[in-house]
Amino acid sequence: MRSWARPPARRAAMLLPWARGLGARCLNRQLPLACGAPLRERAARGHGAGGKGLVLGIYSSEKDEGPAQFTSAGDAFDRLVSGKLRELLAVCGPPLKKGKTRIFHGLHQDFPSVVVVGLGKKNAGVNDQENWDEGKENIRAAVAAGCRHIQDLEIPCVEVDPCGDAQAAAEGSVLGLHEYNELKQKKKLVVTPQLHGSAESEAWQKGVIYAEGQNLARYLMEAPANYITPIKFAEQIEQKLRSFSNVKVHIRPESWIATHQMGAFLSVAKGSAEPPIFLEIHYLGGANTNDSPLVFVGKGVTFDSGGISLKPSSGMDAMRADMGGAATICSAIVTAAALNLPLNIIGLAPLCENMPSGKANKPGDVVRAKNGKTIQVDNTDAEGRLLLADALCYAHNFNARAIVNAATLTGAMDVALGSAATGVFTNSSWLWTHLYEASILTGDRVWRMPLFEHYTKQVTDCPLADLSNIGKYSRAGGACTAAAFLKEFVTASHWAHLDIAGVMSNKDEVPYLRKGMAGRPTRTLVEFAARLSQDSHNTK
Ligand code: BES
Ligand code: ZN
Ligand code: ZN
Repeated sequence: MRSWARPPARRAAMLLPWARGLGARCLNRQLPLACGAPLRERAARGHGAGGKGLVLGIYSSEKDEGPAQFTSAGDAFDRLVSGKLRELLAVCGPPLKKGKTRIFHGLHQDFPSVVVVGLGKKNAGVNDQENWDEGKENIRAAVAAGCRHIQDLEIPCVEVDPCGDAQAAAEGSVLGLHEYNELKQKKKLVVTPQLHGSAESEAWQKGVIYAEGQNLARYLMEAPANYITPIKFAEQIEQKLRSFSNVKVHIRPESWIATHQMGAFLSVAKGSAEPPIFLEIHYLGGANTNDSPLVFVGKGVTFDSGGISLKPSSGMDAMRADMGGAATICSAIVTAAALNLPLNIIGLAPLCENMPSGKANKPGDVVRAKNGKTIQVDNTDAEGRLLLADALCYAHNFNARAIVNAATLTGAMDVALGSAATGVFTNSSWLWTHLYEASILTGDRVWRMPLFEHYTKQVTDCPLADLSNIGKYSRAGGACTAAAFLKEFVTASHWAHLDIAGVMSNKDEVPYLRKGMAGRPTRTLVEFAARLSQDSHNTK
C-alpha cells in the first residue's frame, strides 16, 4: 500500500478540520444544502426540481474528422440513455475543444443536467517542453469548467467522471469551485463534487485532500489583512491542526523572538501596532519521532506596505497576500497530516506586518540577525529577507534532512517568470530533482534559478554592515540578489529558496483556479514531502 493511503493517526484526521462535521463529501464551509436534502426543500430554495449534475469527459478524435471518444464513464452513461448522448453531441455543433463544455438537459431522471467536457488528446502524458503532465492538467481544467457550469445552474451536487485519473479530477473539481465568499452577505451556492462510480475512490479522496490544502492557502492569502493578522493566522493554523495527535503547534510571542535574538525580524515587526508571532509546527508522522525532519520556512508578512520606503498605493491591497510563503508551507503541513505522510516535518513562520511609523526601520538603519551578521536596511520594502534571515538561522537547530523556504520575496521574480513557475534557488541537485519531479505531477511548476557568487558580491559590498538588504545595482537580477542574501544565513547542504511572488495570484492563466490569490505551490510542496517520505537517501 502507498504511504499516503495508510490509516491516519486518528480517523477524524482524514478531513481537514474546517470540512469536518459536514460529512466526508461536503467540502466547503457553509454548505447550504446537503446533497441528499429533500427535493421539496431544494425546490423551495430555488434549486430546481432536484437531482444531481453530472460531468463527463470526452477526448478529441485522433484524426480531425473522426468521432470523439468518450471516457469509460461517458460510454456507460451513453449506453444507459440508449446512445442519446452521442447522438445529441453529433448534431449540436463542432467537436468539443479541450477545456470547453456542452450541456444537455433531461437525458436521465437522476441527472437532469449533464455537462460534457473536452479532455483534449487521449494518452497526452508528460510534455517535455511544458514540464508537466498534460493529461492531468487537461483533466483538471476540463472538470473545473464542468463543475462551474453546474454551479451556475444552482445545482448543489455534482458527480464527476474520474476521466482515468480520479486524483486530477478531484483536484480540478475542488480547486475549480473554490471562491472566497466569507465576507459577502449574498453567497454563491456551494456545490459538492462527488466521484461518479465507485472505482478509484482512494485516488479521488487523495485529490480532494491535495486541493483542499491549496484552498486553505488561497483562503488565508485572500482574506483581508485586518482579518488575518499575525495572531489570527497562527490561531487559524492551530485550529486546523488541533485534532491531530501527532502535531504540536507553538505560537511564540514577541518576548520569545527577542530572547532568540532575532533582531532582523524584530526590526521589521516594530513598525507595526500588531505584535509579531513566530509560529512553529512539529508534525511527527515518521517512524521515529527523532528521525531528521524536513524543515519548511515561510515568509509571513500579513501586510507589506513597504514601510518607510512606502509602496505606491495602487495595487497595495494585494500585499495582504505577502504571507503566501507561510500560508503555503502551513497548508502543506496540514495536508501532510491529513494524508498521514510517514515523515517528520517542522514548519516555521515568522509573522508580522511591514508598516511605516515612528518606530519603523529607516533606510540606512543597521540591524543584527540571529547569527550575528549585521544588515544595513537600505530599503525597508526588502523586509521579507530580514524575517527569513532569522528564521533560517533558527531552522538549523533541527538537524534537518532539507530546509525549504517559500516567500513572496521579489517583484523581480514576477518580471522573470511571471506566473508560469515558482523560481527555485538551491544548493542541492538532489533537492532540486525532487521538487522538479513533484511539480511535473501537480502541474504547479518550478524552474531552477542561479545562486552565483556574482550575486553574493552585490549584497556583501556594503558601507556600514556585513550585508545590505538590497543588491548594489538595485533592480538588476533582483530575485537572484535576494536569494544570495538568504544564502548568507544557510550552512545546511540541502536548502532551497522558493520565490513565489510571480505565482501569488491568478488572473486567468491557470484555468482551474478562479481569479484571486492562488495558494501556489501548496500541492507541489505536499507532493515533494510525499516523495521525500519514500526516499531513503539522505535520511541522516
Ligand atoms: N512583498 C514584496 C515582493 C512582491 C512584489 C511580492 C509583488 C508579490 C508581488 C517584497 O517585500 C518587496 O517589496 N520587494 C522589493 C525588493 C526591492 C526593494 C529590492 C521589490 O520586489 O520591489
Ligand atoms: Zn516589501
Ligand atoms: Zn514583502
